[in-house]
Amino acid sequence: AQKPIVVVGSINTDLVAVTKRMPATGETVIASDFQTHSGGKGANQAVAVARLGYPVRLIGRLGNDAFGDELRTQLQDAGVDITGVSTSDSVSGVALIVVSESGDNSILIAPGANSKVTPADLDANISILRGAGIVLTQLEIPLETVDHLARICARENVPLILDPAPALELPPDIFQHIAWLTPNQTEAAFYLGDDDSKSSSLPPAETAKVFLSKGCHGVVLKMGANGSYLSSQDGINKQVPAFPAKAVDTTAAGDAFNAGFATALMLGKSPLESASFAAAVAAISVTRRGAQPSMPSMDEVEAFMEAASGLAQH
Ligand code: RIB
Ligand code: NA
Repeated sequence: AQKPIVVVGSINTDLVAVTKRMPATGETVIASDFQTHSGGKGANQAVAVARLGYPVRLIGRLGNDAFGDELRTQLQDAGVDITGVSTSDSVSGVALIVVSESGDNSILIAPGANSKVTPADLDANISILRGAGIVLTQLEIPLETVDHLARICARENVPLILDPAPALELPPDIFQHIAWLTPNQTEAAFYLGDDDSKSSSLPPAETAKVFLSKGCHGVVLKMGANGSYLSSQDGINKQVPAFPAKAVDTTAAGDAFNAGFATALMLGKSPLESASFAAAVAAISVTRRGAQPSMPSMDEVEAFMEAASGLAQH
């Protein structure tokens, strides 16, 4: 049987307002549209894996409110195994998202129950973690839990893919336990301690080197429309192109990418092939609104990649 992908991470309701322009401090702007979607980086990655048809289990926490009930139902409907999701006596996680009509977004997160995902939760779900083919996590749950997870994965020999999002300072000895670290450009700049000007002038190969020198096995720099740059201790150093896409909402594009990357690895593709597959998953996701609703099926990704390679041959 296929070993499932296990996601340890956040579950949020995304309250999404669409606007012509972002409100400035002290200013009120009237939105042109509003939607609620299921989100949270952890849940997004889990749902994206499930849409691709690969078995996935989620470890996390919901609150005991109406949002929590709805999120639980949606995870189940998507086919995510939620045995590892428990309920806290608190509110569920919420993300207040403002999307501009040009497709950019800014996000304010109220973690609620996500802040109650403890190291003890991981110990309680140790059999789920032990059975994982790959573990995916992000930084919307407490850092001490992520740190504990990294140790468990190292001990149990399960590859860990850490999406360092949102960017937070990490304990220096965590990097050696990470199979693939997947920062986007903003996060990479944060970890390099760069100001904006410097980070944009540093070539991806140099950025990647810094992360490898911190001890992780591999790094995937996610560069949006410029694709990704992969670098690993075993000698990969290569840029993988993105697929052209007309972005209407880039929320969760990074989650789509990570889910695609992990799924392709589990299906036996090489890291470079997996990054290309991941780019296709992400490209489709940005053409649709909402986090979880925008995640594509395997058939859609295969058709998309085939069409793109057909175009490339002309
Ligand atoms: O990565 C996108 C996600 O970040 C959104 O779904 C939101 O919930 C925040 O967690
Ligand atoms: Na989207």
